[in-house]
Amino acid sequence: MNTIIVGTQWGDEGKGKIIDILSGRVDYIVRYQGGSNAGHTVVVGDKQYIFHLIPSGILHRGKICCIGNGVVIDPKLLMEEIDGLSASGFKLKSRLKISALAHAILPYHRVLDKLREIKRLHKIGTTGRGIGPCYSDKINRCGIRIGDLLNRRVFEAKLRDNLKEKNEIFKKVYKHSGFNFESIFIEYLGYGRRLTPYISNIALLLEKAHDKGKDILLEGAQGTFLDIEFGTYPFVTSSSATAGGACTGTGVSPVKIDKVLGVTKAYTTRVGEGPFPAEFSGKFSDFMRQKGKEFGATTGRPRRCGWFDALMVREAVRLNGISELAVMKLDVLDGLKTIKICTAYKYKGKLFKEFPQDQEVVSGAKPVYKQVSGWPGTVTLAKALKELPQQARDYLSLLQDSGGARISIVSIGSSRRDTIFI
Ligand code: IMO
Ligand code: MG
Repeated sequence: MNTIIVGTQWGDEGKGKIIDILSGRVDYIVRYQGGSNAGHTVVVGDKQYIFHLIPSGILHRGKICCIGNGVVIDPKLLMEEIDGLSASGFKLKSRLKISALAHAILPYHRVLDKLREIKRLHKIGTTGRGIGPCYSDKINRCGIRIGDLLNRRVFEAKLRDNLKEKNEIFKKVYKHSGFNFESIFIEYLGYGRRLTPYISNIALLLEKAHDKGKDILLEGAQGTFLDIEFGTYPFVTSSSATAGGACTGTGVSPVKIDKVLGVTKAYTTRVGEGPFPAEFSGKFSDFMRQKGKEFGATTGRPRRCGWFDALMVREAVRLNGISELAVMKLDVLDGLKTIKICTAYKYKGKLFKEFPQDQEVVSGAKPVYKQVSGWPGTVTLAKALKELPQQARDYLSLLQDSGGARISIVSIGSSRRDTIFI
């Protein structure tokens, strides 16, 4: 069985926890896009792990974790993650597989990401990890792939070509001194050597696994509204975070996908710039941010918070073919007198019941809310759906009906056991 896990909002839905839990039931866990802009937090006992590149399934001993061709890899950060996990006793050599076709993030990508942000009039609020510039080079056909780092001649030719053009741009446009060939070449050949044991033909590996009846989980980073095609462009990331990206980003054929599970927060958050119709305002926003510990796992930036937006989740359900939803962080809504869900937008007197494609409409949209009552006490103690307060069950029914897919998992706390399966 091949399952895709996808975020239905602007990332940070809690994919890390769901992937960690479901990893126990599968054989292979594969990241298909994004890079170290992602930050997946997993709590096991009293230990917290944050992953940027390696699938969080690595915490389950014996599982094979893959990084697909659709991912952009910062080899320095990947080595740090590998070293950190190895120091904690995880044996990675036989369990971590990296696609030779994944593109590498080079120092000039990281610097350009920041310089472009500074120059922009309308900032995106990127994570500054070099993601956009690396994907641009890939599409521009001048990218350097992880496999290239294992071949001195290929790497040298590509790096020289790149620096020739880029250094001119850095100097003339950005007044930056540019980059030295030797130091990047030596540093990255080193990464190539260290990553050699992990390099693999992921598409072939997964095809063979599938033939043997193995179960595969394809994990997306970011979320549907950060997707380069369907997100709130241009305030998006540079990759295909939606379900289609799982096929192009791993080499698993679309006809071999059995199920798409959408992960959604019981409310909404967003990091960085861009429209957010159901965003909270004022003190309530700060209150909910503290309550939900809504600070970016990658950059530490405060996340913007808002009510559950049914237009977004419904659109995500459609675009990804989601048949089941995992609702995360329900416990964060504990103790609220009333809870709202956004059921439509209003713009210039017009009512929108589906997510609009006009950037101006999304940016100026006023939310139309349905208000329901909150619940007393906490949901965290519940062991099953029927133990949840009636109001919490009503709220979940409303999310299910307005989102358009069955809720199969509800998360009521950060640890693995705070999870209800329906
Ligand atoms: P996970 O996987 C939330 C946002 C950035 C910025 C935009 C573009 O943890 O859900 P980029 O550096 O990708 O060019 O930035 O995308 N962003 C995320 N927001 N969670 C993420 O990942 C994100 N990855 C990128 O804040 O608005
Ligand atoms: Mg995150």
